[in-house]
Amino acid sequence: MVTSKTLFLSIFSLYFVSLLYFNNSEAKSPFDEEELNLMNEELIELVKKGDELWHSPSLGTNGLTCANCHPDAANANPHTFPKYQSNIGKVATLREMINWCIQIPLKGKTLPEDSEEMKALEAYAIYMYRGFKLNPGDNKKAYPPVKVDSGPGYP
Ligand code: HEC
Repeated sequence: MVTSKTLFLSIFSLYFVSLLYFNNSEAKSPFDEEELNLMNEELIELVKKGDELWHSPSLGTNGLTCANCHPDAANANPHTFPKYQSNIGKVATLREMINWCIQIPLKGKTLPEDSEEMKALEAYAIYMYRGFKLNPGDNKKAYPPVKVDSGPGYP
């Protein structure tokens, strides 16, 4: 027979289990403010490196830079990858598309996809589209990046 004591204990333990599972909003962030700032500084440093490369003719051989055709990363549409690219003839990643532009419009040598330069170019492109909703496969249109009134477009 279920006594009121066992009933009370069961409800009590259910309450605690539910607290553990559903009350994560009150859990402490794993990083404190100082750690978060340091991590963000490292990210912005990579974005800055990407911005410099984006404006550098060193990636190619014909004097062009990414920014000639993609000012402030315009039309890079990083949030639409992966997607089918007709010029590559398959579903491509953002890094493959960056290499396509290095090879074709810039007449340069492709970067290893895990290189620091590739990571930096990717970081810059994605940072300039921060807040955009992920929409893989979207080949419908070109999207302008975040609005840049002055400065580089990042802190
Ligand atoms: C001479 C102009 C030109 C230059 C310079 C250029 N691109 Fe592009 N880029 C294009 C064109 C044209 C496309 C569209 C190709 C397509 O999707 O058919 C494109 C597409 C892209 C895309 C994919 C956009 C999308 O939605 O499909 C990315 C990302 C990109 N370029 C990055 C770069 C980077 C990084 C550089 C410098 C290394 C660069 N581009 C240099 C002309 C250029």
